[in-house]
Amino acid sequence: MPPKIPPGVGPQFPQVVVLVGATGDLARRKLLPGLFHLTNSGFIPGCRIIGVSLDELDADGFRKIAQEALTEFSTRKFSEADWGAFAGGLDYVSLGAGPSTLRAAVLAAEAAFNGESRRLHYLSVPPNAALSAVRLLGEAELVDRSRVIMEKPFGTDLESAVTLNSKLHEVFDEGQIFRIDHFLGKEAAQNILAFRFANGLFEPIWNRNFIDHVQIDVPEKLALGKRAAFYEQTGAYRDMVVTHLFQILGFMGMEAPTSLEPKPISEEKNKVFRSMLPIDPADVVRGQYTGYRSEDGISRDSDTETFIALKCFIDNWRWAGVPFYLRTGKRLAEGQRIISIAFREPPKSMFPAGSGVGAQGPDHLTFDLADAAKMSLSFYGKRPGPGMRLDKLSMQFAMHDTTHIGDVLEAYERLILDAMRGDHTLFTTAEGIERLWEVSMPLLESPPPVRFYDPGSWGPNSIHQMIAPHAWRLPFERGWRDPNNFG
Ligand code: BG6
Repeated sequence: MPPKIPPGVGPQFPQVVVLVGATGDLARRKLLPGLFHLTNSGFIPGCRIIGVSLDELDADGFRKIAQEALTEFSTRKFSEADWGAFAGGLDYVSLGAGPSTLRAAVLAAEAAFNGESRRLHYLSVPPNAALSAVRLLGEAELVDRSRVIMEKPFGTDLESAVTLNSKLHEVFDEGQIFRIDHFLGKEAAQNILAFRFANGLFEPIWNRNFIDHVQIDVPEKLALGKRAAFYEQTGAYRDMVVTHLFQILGFMGMEAPTSLEPKPISEEKNKVFRSMLPIDPADVVRGQYTGYRSEDGISRDSDTETFIALKCFIDNWRWAGVPFYLRTGKRLAEGQRIISIAFREPPKSMFPAGSGVGAQGPDHLTFDLADAAKMSLSFYGKRPGPGMRLDKLSMQFAMHDTTHIGDVLEAYERLILDAMRGDHTLFTTAEGIERLWEVSMPLLESPPPVRFYDPGSWGPNSIHQMIAPHAWRLPFERGWRDPNNFG
């Protein structure tokens, strides 16, 4: 029995998806498995996919790639029959075949629906290929009844983002454009909004009077795999910071929107971005893991950073003077995605020396942005027994403890579904993106030299000076509570 999907969750009409970059890493890891799940679970009333890429393939060749991708990356079990139904809706057009072949393939897919349908173009291509993909869709006259998802990074600096926006508008109306940042599709990211604005408890202390500093820390163990060519042009700042980490910063820092609609949410996020101080290169550590330069597809004297840590500020009434420390990188010691909020410490302590008060850092509120989200609030409490010894205790919530864990949609699935329904709430805006490039320009124009770090470490040593007198929360001194073991 297919699961019951509540009405209004999915799009009304079947969808023809033109997936540009269909054989790339993202398509194989996330987009094909995601589109399969949405179709197979009944979220979409029908879906046919036309893969497009530079590779010379036929439809069967693409089906083979899709099947391998599903086998390797789908997190859910599926049957031969499920695959067969999905495979029947796959087609392929190589970029070399030109706009008229693409148009014919889309019209054939639409005819197979035998009724009204919509088009979703997903441009899973690097920034330098985005414009030619947009032009192709224009020349193929596939703009009507369509929406277009643009992958990040959107441009590579302020000038290229402004140009891309204006050229994009020559083909698509703003209402058709969905600039994706998949971190905003993560359950845990949306839970920041719920946590802040659905409760009376935390919002009153969500400001510079109570919060000492914030860390947004996304170390990855992952290496580059087959993405060397993309990554070499992009680097950690453009790949992760100007996109994902700053969008999370927007949710963390924004004022309460007047409603949960796209415009009020973007307005509040954009106000945060407008208040950001330009990134000072002196507050940035760029790193490169040793061995990167000898990998395939990487220049032997590459200056691309595979790691970045920086301090930035939102210079408004709520946050003036509160440092936000951001860090991300490849081939680090652990894969984690956390936001950690350190509260100010009490002004005076009546507890005796040696009691342990303050010994384990300030009180922290920590969000784990994994699909199975977690949250923790840590504080000092008395250790049972004689005298007054204090220990760091914590209250923790784990999505795993609820019965809803099976309902989590992977971030791309959630966002693809929203785009098919025309809902812009969790997408980024041209204004927001351009402002983020604007604050980035001092760093992009005068990047500090890359410092080397060992694969498996936490980055170059200078990250500790950068955050002093504070310390990085990761690696955690105390791990998350194991939900299966309360002992
Ligand atoms: C992508 C970046 O956008 O996000 C990758 O291009 C990165 O380099 C990935 O690994 C991380 O996403 P997630 O959802 O796995 O945390």
